Amino acid sequence: MSTSDPILGILGTGRIGADHARTISTLSGIGGILVADAVPESAQKIAQELGATAVSPDEIFDKVDGLVITTPTSTHAELIKKAVAKKIPTFTEKPIALDVPTTREVVDVVNDSDVLVQVGFMRRFNDGYANARKLLAEGAIGELRRGNVTMGDTPAPPESFIKFSGGINKDCLIHDADITRWVTGQRIEEVYEVGFSRGADYFARWDDIDEGGGVWTLADDSIVTFQTTRNNGAGYDIRLELFGTKDTISVGFDTYMPITSAEPGFTFEQAGDRFQAFYPRFIPAYKKEIGHFVQAMKDGSPSVATVTDALEALYVCDAMDLSRKEHRPVTVDEIRQAK
Ligand SMILES: NC(=O)c1ccc[n+]([C@@H]2O[C@H](COP(=O)([O-])OP(=O)(O)OC[C@H]3O[C@@H](n4cnc5c(N)ncnc54)[C@H](O)[C@@H]3O)[C@@H](O)[C@H]2O)c1
Repeated sequence: MSTSDPILGILGTGRIGADHARTISTLSGIGGILVADAVPESAQKIAQELGATAVSPDEIFDKVDGLVITTPTSTHAELIKKAVAKKIPTFTEKPIALDVPTTREVVDVVNDSDVLVQVGFMRRFNDGYANARKLLAEGAIGELRRGNVTMGDTPAPPESFIKFSGGINKDCLIHDADITRWVTGQRIEEVYEVGFSRGADYFARWDDIDEGGGVWTLADDSIVTFQTTRNNGAGYDIRLELFGTKDTISVGFDTYMPITSAEPGFTFEQAGDRFQAFYPRFIPAYKKEIGHFVQAMKDGSPSVATVTDALEALYVCDAMDLSRKEHRPVTVDEIRQAK
């Protein structure tokens, strides 16, 4: 540790906050870790586990060089604005907010400042997605024609989370919307989504679904089908297949893939246990995204997952919600241009 190594604060020590804190504790080049939560016992517990220091949510702003926001989505906007006002480089979990006006307000505040703000689109740091982006750009699969997104979440979060999550699109598919744009370099122009609540009864109670699917049309008319669930029986399954004029590539097609072949006589050798939740599936990516944030704090390099990227992904999520509710295709411009 050098004296110039930054002290990082983690605000919100729930599911992902505790996981990020554990990941940060394994990184080099960090001068210290402070944690805070609205429930002090939660922060104290993880502080004790990691040998970090627990402080109050107010105190943390005055004691850190960089902030990691992992509180519920509804609190992100105010906390980001507070951090930017205090010129604290900030990593925030997605989404910025559940609505477009609040997200735009944050985009304006961040873009009018020179403060680093990185959004938690960790898949941009996953080797598979990065390689797919490179192969597509190099022309290795020819021209893109079709894609397929699998968003197989498990286990379903509790009702206390679903209540404030903004629904499966803004909570989960927002990652797929962002990464599809990042890998292909193209905006999603039009969406059509169907969905149902077929598992726990609380999804319907909060106007949410736990099984869905549909289609996105990209700017070049490539057609991307997607399917989404909170209850993938086989394990946590996140994939992106891209079908080009020369070849097909797949992200997530590895020996952990939670699939059993129906072909008689063919066995798919599993390298180990199938992933059963989001964090283990993306540990290397979570590690790299925070490592990148710390490096950007030190060398002043720009954010690689910006608040504007988060706004773009939110437009797609709002379009999917509207499409499902009104049973019609919705252009993303309809959301982007709405007053
Ligand atoms: N990138 C990813 O893969 C990923 C995965 C899961 C969650 N998330 C995002 O992370 C955020 C948190 O999700 P979670 O599942 O960890 O939620 P959670 O409910 O498990 O944890 C949130 C924590 O924040 C605390 N808190 C609430 N308000 C606070 C405040 N104002 N100040 C300080 N602490 C406060 C709560 O007490 C709780 O401990 C959400 O925005 C979610 O969308 C991202």
